[in-house]
Amino acid sequence: MTDEHKQRRTSRLPGFYKLPLAERAAMVAQWAGLDRNDQAVLLGLAGLSATQADHLIENVIGVHALPLGVATNFLVNGQDYLIPMVVEEPSIVAGVSFAARLARGGGGFVAATDDPVMIGQIQVLDVDNVYAAAGRVWDARERLLEDANCCDRTMVKLGGGARGLELRPFPDTPAGPMLVIHVLFDVRDAMGANAINTVCEQLAPTVEALTGGRVNLRILSNLADRRKASASCTIPADALKAGDLPGAEVARAIVEAAALAEIDPYRAATHNKGVMNGMDAVAIATGNDWRGLEAGAHAWAARGGRYTSLTRWWQDEKGDLRGSIELPVAVGIVGGTTRAHPTAQVALKILGVESAAELAGVMAAVGLAQNLAALRALATEGIQRGHMSLHARQVALAAGASGAEVATVAGRMVEEGAISAERAADLLAALRGS
Ligand code: MEV
Repeated sequence: MTDEHKQRRTSRLPGFYKLPLAERAAMVAQWAGLDRNDQAVLLGLAGLSATQADHLIENVIGVHALPLGVATNFLVNGQDYLIPMVVEEPSIVAGVSFAARLARGGGGFVAATDDPVMIGQIQVLDVDNVYAAAGRVWDARERLLEDANCCDRTMVKLGGGARGLELRPFPDTPAGPMLVIHVLFDVRDAMGANAINTVCEQLAPTVEALTGGRVNLRILSNLADRRKASASCTIPADALKAGDLPGAEVARAIVEAAALAEIDPYRAATHNKGVMNGMDAVAIATGNDWRGLEAGAHAWAARGGRYTSLTRWWQDEKGDLRGSIELPVAVGIVGGTTRAHPTAQVALKILGVESAAELAGVMAAVGLAQNLAALRALATEGIQRGHMSLHARQVALAAGASGAEVATVAGRMVEEGAISAERAADLLAALRGS
């Protein structure tokens, strides 16, 4: 893929969703320069085999497939992206593509990321004076950082490595006085769990010698707040017009909806679930650890002592809608499942990201767009109408409908306002009988 091709291509693909699956796949293959093997992977002919899966986890008895969709319209920092998303819930891919189109009208998303610095924790117990122990560790910090770099020379060669120590004395805990040492380590394009865990284990004996204490835990923190990504966007108010509702009113209703998520954890949980609908789907598509991503996002949302929203929405002086998001995004493009899973490799090719930081920035934009899609739907027609037609298709499929039968059976159920397995079976029988 030449840089020129990358610059020229647009993710604005009108009518993409109406094409048959094979045509969509062919269009994406051309867009991303996929080869025949990549295309076979997408069609499930050469994806993760049970034999490969057997090397990934324990007690494997097979593989489990999920839909891989592509969200269109994303413009992030002036570059076009097609976003691979693995998710089972209807409306997510359509919603995020629509929201990205709205953001495109305002110049797209602006994303930024911290350096990819992970935090590793070393827990030291049985120390009489945690402050004195902290002082001794601090005095030896240069040696500890050098030792950390020794464990991962490759990372250092790539420009990563130890970035610092933080000391967190807890004089009074249920387990007695405790010193927690944070090791900050730049993991470049890896998610970095293995790298940081190895570093913590490597440093533990020296830490014990310095503190005279006993090391217990040596593990990364999923609250990866040294590795945050942010994104923002502006939606021209007029673009938000929905039926008879003027755009400015929709913008106001979205800001009102977002205000509830800021003040109320009950709403914030659902609001943030919507954000993660998009981010998790990209994490899964690219073979990243979405549980770690979730843990980091929710811990970050609660950092002030009260769980709140991951996004902010407001209207500017022109009445246009503005949104922003910031959260830890610990994802990688090398190593781990990302490398071992054939479909994750193809998903990364479709994205075309060149660094973990670029992926994190795009994912923040996806989270913000997914949130906008949900808020816009909730503040206008509600989400059920869109959901119901897709839900009806799933029920029709489950009842055994195939090909054109799916749309016919689902369409009838939506018209009747009654979507159930029994009704789908009856309609299918009637259809086949005729
Ligand atoms: C559903 O998966 C996600 C939403 O509930 C998010 C939200 O309410 O903001 C629609």
